[in-house]
Amino acid sequence: MQVVNIGLVGAGSIGVRHIQAIDKVDEISLVAIADPSPVAAEIGEVRFIPVYADAESMFQAGGIDAVIIATPTEKHHKIVMVALTHRLTVLVEKPIAATVEEARDITRFANEQGCHVLVGHQRRYYPCTEKARDIIQSGQLGTLIAVIGQWTVRKDDPYYAPQWRREIEAGPILTNLIHEIDLLRFICGDIATVSAEITHHDQKFAKEDAVAITMKFANSAIGSFVLSDRTPTPWTWEMALGENSKFPKSGQNAIRFMGTKGALEFPNLVLWSHSDSEGNWQDEIQSEVIEMPFVDAYVEQCQHLCAVVQGTQMPIIDAENGTRSLDATLAAVRAATEGTRVILDLSSYQDRKNILDD
Ligand SMILES: NC(=O)c1ccc[n+]([C@@H]2O[C@H](COP(=O)([O-])OP(=O)(O)OC[C@H]3O[C@@H](n4cnc5c(N)ncnc54)[C@H](O)[C@@H]3O)[C@@H](O)[C@H]2O)c1
Repeated sequence: MQVVNIGLVGAGSIGVRHIQAIDKVDEISLVAIADPSPVAAEIGEVRFIPVYADAESMFQAGGIDAVIIATPTEKHHKIVMVALTHRLTVLVEKPIAATVEEARDITRFANEQGCHVLVGHQRRYYPCTEKARDIIQSGQLGTLIAVIGQWTVRKDDPYYAPQWRREIEAGPILTNLIHEIDLLRFICGDIATVSAEITHHDQKFAKEDAVAITMKFANSAIGSFVLSDRTPTPWTWEMALGENSKFPKSGQNAIRFMGTKGALEFPNLVLWSHSDSEGNWQDEIQSEVIEMPFVDAYVEQCQHLCAVVQGTQMPIIDAENGTRSLDATLAAVRAATEGTRVILDLSSYQDRKNILDD
């Protein structure tokens, strides 16, 4: 078995999460880090691996098959492009880039270089996500009519100490909504239009306190979502599932899908329907809990990265698919700031289907 050698660019909070996952996968090994911070230097010292001040120096030193890029978002584009120049397989944290133009540039260059770029939307790797997608795509809920969801927390104050976390790139829309959008796109299909309202009336930073979004999917289903990083509630993906030990599990579901034959609570799957498929609001409605195994999505993502490098799998979420999620997410910013309904130009994508995009 050929071990895949990984370089990590950015050993901050999510970079460390990737290191923990790498340590749990036998076929993959962390061989170098690029990050100028003292914390990165300490990690390198403990693990006896070189730490470079910048990504280019690490790439030039050679010896790596793939790179995980976990720097602040505005640096993604430049570092991915340099990695592609060195013909590396890339796993870049979400969002793929700060702008759609940068993301398209990455897609174009990855194709030219014949390299794979994976985007770090780790929720796609959970069995419950896959099952929800199956239930909806197979028509078990009938025709999908609507989806409603929320992601509402109060983040801790030190979170906002770095200046970049107060900017629009680190607000709930770009940091958190993008996960929800990617999830909804994966389960329901592409998003065609987005309208939104935002508010800044609590923290008064450049980033928003909350956003409310209305969307229409290409399949004509409609959806709405509310996000805030200023409101203590039990209703987020992370708390519902206990995804991250830093955020205590509530077990409370945060998303509901509704079709003509039934409804699905998510991510702890609960299927609601009448016993008779023609049943209506005057009939009793029953629930069925669907148990799914809980996995470490970062470990799954790492294994997938390994398989992509080894040529046995195609990316579950490639640069173009990550660009679509970014495009729909940024549409929410435009819709909110310009007060318009944004129609996404889905024809601008190549429709190069990835393995799960049928
Ligand atoms: N998938 C997820 O659920 C998830 C969760 C959190 C963050 N993220 C994403 O991960 C990225 C990083 O977020 P974070 O919270 O870990 O940030 P962070 O500030 O904790 O860490 C960023 C690290 O990058 C380093 N860095 C900055 N510029 C660099 C450069 N040019 N070259 C090398 N290293 C550099 C910094 O020194 C720091 O160690 C962001 O894009 C964010 O959106 C994803």
